[in-house]
Amino acid sequence: KKSSPIPYTESEISRGRRDAWTVLGGKVYNMTPYLPYHPGGEPELLRVAGKDGSKLFGEVHPWVNWEGMLEGCLIGVAVAEEEIKQ
Ligand code: HEM
Repeated sequence: KKSSPIPYTESEISRGRRDAWTVLGGKVYNMTPYLPYHPGGEPELLRVAGKDGSKLFGEVHPWVNWEGMLEGCLIGVAVAEEEIKQ
């Protein structure tokens, strides 16, 4: 059985900057293990660390299958602050 994804808010994701967390399509990834393998280099990846990278990613290479490539880096899903604080 697959465990349910852990919800992360924007502020939690921004605190994950040093671990190179990002959000793509609503999913939260820890890109750290992937950093050395990115054909575009580490600095490019770090531009989206701690925030939603979907827009920039789509501008650079919309054809890249991030969902498949980053499967092992998936740590949760992005949620709105209000969904947590109740
Ligand atoms: C190239 C994956 C995020 C900038 C590539 C390529 C892959 C890839 C597979 C080769 C594509 C090809 O040759 O057709 C990823 C993954 C990302 C990510 C999995 C998310 C974690 C980003 C971001 C940026 C970026 C956020 C920009 C801010 C680039 C650039 C290249 C590239 C500039 C071209 C490198 C070259 O051909 O010299 N990336 N990328 N990538 N990526 Fe990313």
